Amino acid sequence: MTAPKKLYIKTYGCQMNVYDSERMSEALGGEGYVPTETPDDADMILLNTCHIREKAAEKVYSELGRFRSLKDEKPDLKIGVAGCVAQAEGAEIMARQPLVDLVVGPQSYHRLPELERKARAGEKALDTDFPEEDKFDHLAGRPKAKRAPTAFLTVQEGCDKFCAFCVVPYTRGAEVSRPAEQVLREARDLVERGVREITLLGQNVNAYHGHDGGLAGLIWDLDKIDGLERIRFTTSHPNDMDDALIEAHGTCDKLMPYLHLPVQSGSDRILKRMNRKHTAEQYIRLIERIRAARPDLLLSGDFIVGFPEETDADFADTMALIETVGYGQAYSFKYSTRPGTPAAERAQVAEDVKSARLQALQALLREQQQAAQDTMVGREVNVLFEKPGREAGQMVGKSEYLHAVHVTGDVPVGDIRRVRILQSNPNSLAGALS
Ligand code: SAH
Ligand code: SF4
Ligand code: F3S
Repeated sequence: MTAPKKLYIKTYGCQMNVYDSERMSEALGGEGYVPTETPDDADMILLNTCHIREKAAEKVYSELGRFRSLKDEKPDLKIGVAGCVAQAEGAEIMARQPLVDLVVGPQSYHRLPELERKARAGEKALDTDFPEEDKFDHLAGRPKAKRAPTAFLTVQEGCDKFCAFCVVPYTRGAEVSRPAEQVLREARDLVERGVREITLLGQNVNAYHGHDGGLAGLIWDLDKIDGLERIRFTTSHPNDMDDALIEAHGTCDKLMPYLHLPVQSGSDRILKRMNRKHTAEQYIRLIERIRAARPDLLLSGDFIVGFPEETDADFADTMALIETVGYGQAYSFKYSTRPGTPAAERAQVAEDVKSARLQALQALLREQQQAAQDTMVGREVNVLFEKPGREAGQMVGKSEYLHAVHVTGDVPVGDIRRVRILQSNPNSLAGALS
């Protein structure tokens, strides 16, 4: 028997890429590949890339350059680029970096086995189609082996919203929802393999329409699966938060009290230019309604500073919105010009202004995050334990609110236990098993 070939996948970008990398690894498993943790002994390297900001895309090319010596040592090594840079730049990648043997977009990775064979035969293999067929129907069944207690599950892909700054509608295509039955089957399979928490993924996951009852309907069906203890979803758009989903936050015990609901800016002028199709006030009212349903909800958001034409007054509006809303978690970015998007054509804000705004915004968000974490001290939370901690005898897991919690004690991976929080550290909480 020949030794199995080794596959090294490096994942950039969002959770959806994490999910896709797992599926790509499984797809190549059928071709005799086993995963490896390092590029050094790999027979195939796949970079699963992100195109959202300029820096993310540039990283791919610098990473590829580093593989030159590996390929010199091992001419049989195949190098592939997957994900959103593959979709956006396609054949240009091969032109710019001849080391690349294979390019595959996020909607065509079920064809990886064929592409791999083509690359093995010494040809350049490229597929960035948006095929008619459903890739999930064509992917091989998922393996039955036991796995980690938390899992991502993509239920919706693509985006029709066309925010003026964003490449996703171009790299991921139009919104498509997976049928509920297909999702539920996959969820049951994951639970049989030891999964206790599922995070439903979509670029606009709350626009999900693969179930008559929308995302809330899907969540209620998942709620019935014995052994599945926790449900989360990300990322949501404010305009798709319907009444049923808000209500589920109050009534579905398995739906965790954590919501990532990006607003991007607190200025109506900028929100309009961003094509977000809601005002700051509408967002604030929406948050009030969700918090009325679930008062202890921990809210997370995304912010962009330095969007074209953003003035000091616009930025002050964003700071004011953050003060009003209060975030327990947040991600913030300097606006990055993406060729081909409408905002790229407009008057750009100077780099030093962007940097200063980002610094001020992040200081405020950090303060709010720390305050939210500090309020956990003295409370009891439920922790799903995921792995041993850094120190001997420690175990680490996540609370309902997605805070990392560590305890001293012997708890099996996958157990959910009550923990009294004793201390709030910069990036985690310390507690004792109750
Ligand atoms: N679908 C999600 C976001 C997907 S992209 C939503 O609508 O909220 C993740 C985040 O990256 C966005 O929320 C935004 O904050 C950021 N982002 C997207 N394009 C960007 C750009 N051109 N420059 C800076 N940040 C960007
Ligand atoms: Fe991008 Fe906007 Fe779609 Fe989110 S809603 S993926 S930010 S276009
Ligand atoms: Fe990046 Fe594509 Fe996700 S651009 S953020 S990997 S959808």
